Amino acid sequence: MVKKKCCVFISGKGTNLVALIKSSREYNFPVIIDLIVSNEKNAKGLNFAKIFNIDYRIYNINKKKHFEILLNELNKRKISLICLAGYMKILSKEFIERFRGKIINIHPSLLPKYKGLNTFTKAIKNKDKQAGCTVHYVNKKLDSGQIILQKKVIINRNDTEKSLKEKIQKKEYKAYSEAVRKIFSNINS
Ligand code: GRF
Repeated sequence: MVKKKCCVFISGKGTNLVALIKSSREYNFPVIIDLIVSNEKNAKGLNFAKIFNIDYRIYNINKKKHFEILLNELNKRKISLICLAGYMKILSKEFIERFRGKIINIHPSLLPKYKGLNTFTKAIKNKDKQAGCTVHYVNKKLDSGQIILQKKVIINRNDTEKSLKEKIQKKEYKAYSEAVRKIFSNINS
C-alpha cells in the first residue's frame, strides 16, 4: 500500500503524536508521519521526532516569513494531511484556506460542548455524567469543523480533573488513529 504523507503540529508533550507515529508504522495504516512542526522550540514532543527519526521544524507560522517557508515545505513534501495534536496556536484563515479539508484536530471534549480551553474543569464543575474527545476537521471557527469521530468516558463521582484528563487521553490515542483510518477509507471507497 502506498501511504500518504502526514505532518503533525505540536506545542507540548506529544503523547498523541507518539500514538500516531506508532500507528503509522503498522503495515496497513494509510499515512506515514513525514514531518513534525512545533511552534515551541522546547516542546517535549520534539524528543519523539529524534527517537523515531522523523524530520522536524520549529516555526511560528503566524509570522509571514515562517508561514511562506512552511507552505513551501508542506507542498514540496506533498503533505496530504495535517494533524493538530496539542497545537496551541490558532491557525490563520489563510493557512486553513490553503489546506482546506486537509487539517484535523483532536479536542478533549464531546464537541459541540466545551469548545476552547479548560474542558475537564467545565465537565466536572457542571457535574456532567460523561465526557470524551472529538476528532474533527479544522475550519475557520474554533473547534467547530465537521466531526469525524468521538469517544466517550463515564465521569464518576470521585473523578478529579486529573483523573478525567487521564481517562480521556487514553481514548484520544485510539481515536486519532481511528479517525485517520476513517478519512482514508472514505476517500478510497
Ligand atoms: C490533548 O489532550 C488534546 O486533546 C489537546 O491537547 C492535548 C495534547 O496532549 N488538543 P499531547 O501533547 O498530545 O500529550
